[in-house]
Amino acid sequence: SVFSSPSFDEHEDVAFHYDGETGLKAIISLHSTVMGPALGGCRMWAYDDDAAALTDVLRLSRGMTFKNALADLPWGGGKSVIIGNAKTDKTPAMMREMGRFVDSFGGRYIVAEDVGTTPEDMAEIAKTTRNVRGVKSVGFDPSPGTAYGVFKGLEAAVGEALGASDLKGVRVAVQGLGHVGYDLARRLHAAGAVLTVTDIDAAALARAERELGATVVGLDAIYDADVDVYAPCALGATLNDDTIPRLKASIVAGAANNQLAETRHGDRLADRGILYAPDYVLNAGGVIHIYHEGPDFDRDATFAHIGRIGGTMRDIFRRAKDDGIPPHIAADRLAKDKLAAAKAGQRKA
Ligand code: NAI
Repeated sequence: SVFSSPSFDEHEDVAFHYDGETGLKAIISLHSTVMGPALGGCRMWAYDDDAAALTDVLRLSRGMTFKNALADLPWGGGKSVIIGNAKTDKTPAMMREMGRFVDSFGGRYIVAEDVGTTPEDMAEIAKTTRNVRGVKSVGFDPSPGTAYGVFKGLEAAVGEALGASDLKGVRVAVQGLGHVGYDLARRLHAAGAVLTVTDIDAAALARAERELGATVVGLDAIYDADVDVYAPCALGATLNDDTIPRLKASIVAGAANNQLAETRHGDRLADRGILYAPDYVLNAGGVIHIYHEGPDFDRDATFAHIGRIGGTMRDIFRRAKDDGIPPHIAADRLAKDKLAAAKAGQRKA
């Protein structure tokens, strides 16, 4: 039975929705609303089976609780999945039905885009619910915010591992020069870092060579680069059995989601003495930006909030040292403590 899934550890509310007219097959998972309404993206994916979709939404919604808590947001953690092929199965009517499903939670779930959905889809969803963020017509791009947060967290990691107070001469390998990666590379270059870069996009590489004096290497050679920091900003799961033994970097700090192929790879990094800045803390600038978006958007206040990622990262490294655990575990503990404190506060009130 789906209800016996071991992943239902502490989830508050999980709902399935099938709509015959539009063909929508969706699951919404609210992991926690202790901090506030549960915010998390809607993923559309052609899952092998429904059990895989359920496991994914449970796992991802739990991750959002931790991410939003450590980002100092008044938001809990949730996520939704639509089962189907985003390229061939998606229709505007299906998205509007998804909006009705989101709306049925009465504001306890707030949806945003994720893998397989776009700002245009969010605009469609916005026709049937107000509980949506990242709508196309609103016209905000969170990527520069994400890049700024990664930069601040990377700085904190360099301070921790190398004892350096700035990035002058620090060698960084940036994997992926997209919306986040290029902006991060630009900031790093401005701070005096020396860049090695890779991408599948030749134009982005040429630009980085020209504007940032970056050294270009092949897609696979990035793991062998002789650098201080490896900054994954393209794909997930790049920290795995194949790559970890090859890394020369003493720090991993990048924007990509789900960098650890499996949790145990966080331990492998620690075994090798490589400091890992947990991805979901480092790349929270995007969700913080989304929180601040609106008619009264205040860029300075938004970036000040995002900048606090540096301090959070230092708290995590301290906790890791105090408890004798790797940072990816310390981050989860810090988030759990925060949630427990909030819960205790609510019981008292
Ligand atoms: P993007 O799609 O703009 O950039 C990805 C870049 O990686 C592209 O330039 C692409 O050509 C390159 N790439 C693809 N395959 C590659 C490979 N095998 N090796 C090297 N480069 C490769 O994506 P974006 O928005 O910059 O996001 C990057 C990562 O950060 C993703 O993992 C994303 O989930 C994560 N992230 C992004 C946020 C945002 O605000 N955009 C927020 C939080 C996380």
